[in-house]
Amino acid sequence: MSNEEENTSVTITIRPVGPFLVRGPVTLVQPDGTEIVPPVGKTPGVIKLCSCGFSETKPFCDSSHKRCPPPAPASTSPPAD
Ligand code: FES
Repeated sequence: MSNEEENTSVTITIRPVGPFLVRGPVTLVQPDGTEIVPPVGKTPGVIKLCSCGFSETKPFCDSSHKRCPPPAPASTSPPAD
């Protein structure tokens, strides 16, 4: 992978507990197309999207997942058609 590809590729890391970690150049938009500016996190270039549904700052993680019961194990297989 070239440096240019590394700078333009997006990686979304799915974790069993906690937010989805989005790395790379992405633009988040509301349903009406309005851009959402992500909060500045501890790790520059990483956006944390809530996966638990309990965040008060959706779509971003606010660490509320730490107070939630652990989720059921997720499958990494794509859904069947
Ligand atoms: S994943 Fe952190 S608040 Fe939902």
